[in-house]
Amino acid sequence: MGQIISISSQKGGVGKTTTAVNLGTSLAIFNKSVLLVDLDPQGSIGISFHLEDYHIKFGLYEVMVKNMPLTGTIINSGLDNLDLIPTNIRSEDQEIEMYSKALKLDLLKTIINPVKKIYDYIIIDCPPNLGSMTLNGLVAADSVIIPVVSEYYALKALGKFLNTLKSISKKYNRQLKIGGILVTMFDRRIKKQKEIVEYLRMTFKNLVFETVIPRNSKVAEAPSVGKPVILHAIHSEGAIKYLKLAEEIMSKKNENKL
Ligand SMILES: Nc1ncnc2c1ncn2[C@@H]1O[C@H](COP(=O)(O)OP(=O)(O)O)[C@@H](O)[C@H]1O
Ligand SMILES: [Mg+2]
Repeated sequence: MGQIISISSQKGGVGKTTTAVNLGTSLAIFNKSVLLVDLDPQGSIGISFHLEDYHIKFGLYEVMVKNMPLTGTIINSGLDNLDLIPTNIRSEDQEIEMYSKALKLDLLKTIINPVKKIYDYIIIDCPPNLGSMTLNGLVAADSVIIPVVSEYYALKALGKFLNTLKSISKKYNRQLKIGGILVTMFDRRIKKQKEIVEYLRMTFKNLVFETVIPRNSKVAEAPSVGKPVILHAIHSEGAIKYLKLAEEIMSKKNENKL
């Protein structure tokens, strides 16, 4: 049975999509079969793989709103064992329709269930809010990975987000585990950032992944060439760390009950 991992945080710009894309690619490189699901109406997963709108005939919109079977929307990424379900929202009306269908919080869970046994990992990229799409992502998930940047205000938000996850788990998904807190865009030259990571480890202990993702120019430029950093610059520090993260996840060191 495949594991469903949601990448979630209430904040935008913390590396959710980057992590979904590069963790998914890394797991695929380690020979796992992976499905990446884009829950964010912004459609960044498609962009990260160089998919233009005309490549995406059907996507999550048709599945959630028009009841199309999920299998009809799966696109191969170009890498053998990495498949995608892109988001293909083309107007605000469609976005509203999708959000309102998602008020049925277990809709995505039901939709994904038939393909759960086909893949080793299903990775869900959530939007940067706690709206109905994100809640669908959390209800469908076995575990959640929370990317954080090492800044003071992020610490405050993290404590609150963990409490929110606890109550979501209590109400809607008792099986939900913390896959881990992932420090992203870390700059080791900045002393304050080091202190914040130390504080995170002291406070949240083994909830924090050993692997820390550095701020890295190759990671930042990869979406503009339509490739995950692992395929764009395999020897870059960013690519190496995402491969390490995949190893850490495959070894399951980090799963913790909420
Ligand atoms: N490790 C990194 N190093 C440099 N830039 C990064 C890194 N991770 C993400 N970025 C850049 O930061 C921006 C926000 O990342 P993104 O993954 O889109 O965040 P989110 O999905 O949480 O909104 C993007 O422009 C992305 O390319
Ligand atoms: Mg994103």
